[in-house]
Amino acid sequence: MSEFDLVIRGGTVVTAADTMRADVGIRGGKVAALADSLPESGRTIDAAGLLVMPGGVDTHCHIEQLEANGSVHEDSFVTASASAFAGGTTSAICFSSQFKGHPIGPTLDDYRRRARASMMDVSFHQIITDPTDAVLKELPGIVAAGIRSFKVFMTYDPLHVNDAEVLRVLAAAKKLGAMVTVHCENYAAIGFLTEALLAAGHTAPKYHAWSRPPVVEREATYRAMALAELIDTPIQVFHVSSAEVAEEIARAKARGLKVWGETCPQYLALTAAHMDRPGFEGAKFMCSPAPREEAEHERMWGMIRRGVLDVISSDHCGFSYEGSAGKGQNGRDVTFRDIPNGIPGLAARLPIVFSEGVSKGRITANEFVSLTATNPAKLFGLAGKGTIAIGADADVTLWDPAKQVTLTNALMHHAIDYTPYEGMAITGWPVATIRRGEVVMQDGKVQAAPGSGRFLARGPYPLIAPRGIVANGFDPVS
Ligand code: URP
Ligand code: ZN
Ligand code: ZN
Repeated sequence: MSEFDLVIRGGTVVTAADTMRADVGIRGGKVAALADSLPESGRTIDAAGLLVMPGGVDTHCHIEQLEANGSVHEDSFVTASASAFAGGTTSAICFSSQFKGHPIGPTLDDYRRRARASMMDVSFHQIITDPTDAVLKELPGIVAAGIRSFKVFMTYDPLHVNDAEVLRVLAAAKKLGAMVTVHCENYAAIGFLTEALLAAGHTAPKYHAWSRPPVVEREATYRAMALAELIDTPIQVFHVSSAEVAEEIARAKARGLKVWGETCPQYLALTAAHMDRPGFEGAKFMCSPAPREEAEHERMWGMIRRGVLDVISSDHCGFSYEGSAGKGQNGRDVTFRDIPNGIPGLAARLPIVFSEGVSKGRITANEFVSLTATNPAKLFGLAGKGTIAIGADADVTLWDPAKQVTLTNALMHHAIDYTPYEGMAITGWPVATIRRGEVVMQDGKVQAAPGSGRFLARGPYPLIAPRGIVANGFDPVS
C-alpha cells in the first residue's frame, strides 16, 4: 500500500511565508508531508515548472442567493463551484439573505438546502437588513451553527440599515464573537445624486458611477469604522474601490483598530469608462462601489503593498446580459437605477490578480497567496484552509506562471453569459485544482460530483476578540 493517496512532485511550493522546492504528500484529504523527495504513491502529479499554491479562498461570493424581489442569482452552487475550480479557487463564503419584516430562519434553511449541492467547500455570511429584537434573538443559534460573520449594507433599497441598526448588529457580533462585514456607501447621498442625475436626463449606465463617487464610499467607510470603534468590535470593509477610501482604513489601522480591507479585481482592472459603452452594454460592468478611473489601479496596488488592503475577493455576483433574468430583469430601456448591480468574477479573480500583480512585478507570489487564500481564511476563521502545511486541508492549485491566456467567457465555466474581462491578456494560469486531495480540475476540465463540497462551520477564533478599549471605560455591550 502506498504511503500517500497523491503526491505532487517537483513543483515550487509557495505559501504566504515561504517559497520552497518540495514534493507534497497528501493522505486522507490532508497535507501529510512536505519533503525534498517523496516515494511513489497511488497517484503522482508532475509539477515540474509549476507553482504549487494553496487553493484560492474567495470570501465574498453571491451564489444562488435569494433577493428581496423573489429572484435567485443565476449561478447555482454547482455552476459556481465549476467556475471556482476552473480559476483555482477551492473554498468560498457566500451569503444567506434576510429581508425586512422577515425572520432569518426559513431563508437560511432554504439556503442550506441549496448549498448541499456545492462541489467547493462553502461557508456563509449572514446578511442582516432588519436587526429587530426578534432577529437578534436568532443570531446566537446562527453563530452556533458556524455562521460567524454578518454583512450589513449601508446603502441599497431594500437592504440598507441606518446607523442605529449598524450599532445593534455590531453589538450583537461583539457578544457572539462574530465578524461584521460592511458595504460602505452613503445611502442618502446616492439617493440625492441619483434623483438629480435622472432629473437632468442622465439615465445611461455610465451615470451609475456618477451617482456614487468615491467620497460617498469614503464617508461611509469612516462612519462604519467609527461605529465599530465605539462598540469595540472588528469589521471588514468590503469591496474598497479607491485609494482615498483605503487611506481611511490606513488611518484606522494606524490607530490600532481591528479593521480589515477587501478589494476586488474590478477595482484593479475595470474603469468607469467601461460603463460608457453604447446602449445597454455598460450594464455588464455595473457594480457597487463603481469601478473608478484607470489611474486608481496603481494607487490601489500601492495600498495592497502597504498592507492596508488585506484581501482580494471576487464579489462574484453574476447577472446574465441577455434574457430577462439578469441585467435586463427590469427591462433594457431603463435608467441606471433599475439595473441590478454586480458582476461575475469567481474564475477570473486569481488569474487577474496573478497576472496584474505577480507577472507585472507589483506583488510577490507570496503576497498573492496571502491576499487570495491565507488572509481570507485567517480573517474569517476558516481553520485548515488557505495554506499548504502539514495537517491542513489539501486544497492546492498548480499554477503555470508563464502560461499566456486570453480571457473568454467559455473559460469562466459559470452560468452567466458574459465576463466583463473578455479579451483580457493574462500571464499565469491554473492548470490543475485539487480540493481536499481530489483533482477537481485539470487542464480546464472540471471533474467533481455535485454534493462533494463541505459546509465549513466556523468556530470561535481569537483574531476577532475586542481590543478592550471603550469610550469612558463604559462598555455598552454587557
Ligand atoms: O455590485 C455589487 N457589489 N453587487 C453585489 C452586492 C454587494 O454589494 O456586494
Ligand atoms: Zn456590498
Ligand atoms: Zn457583494
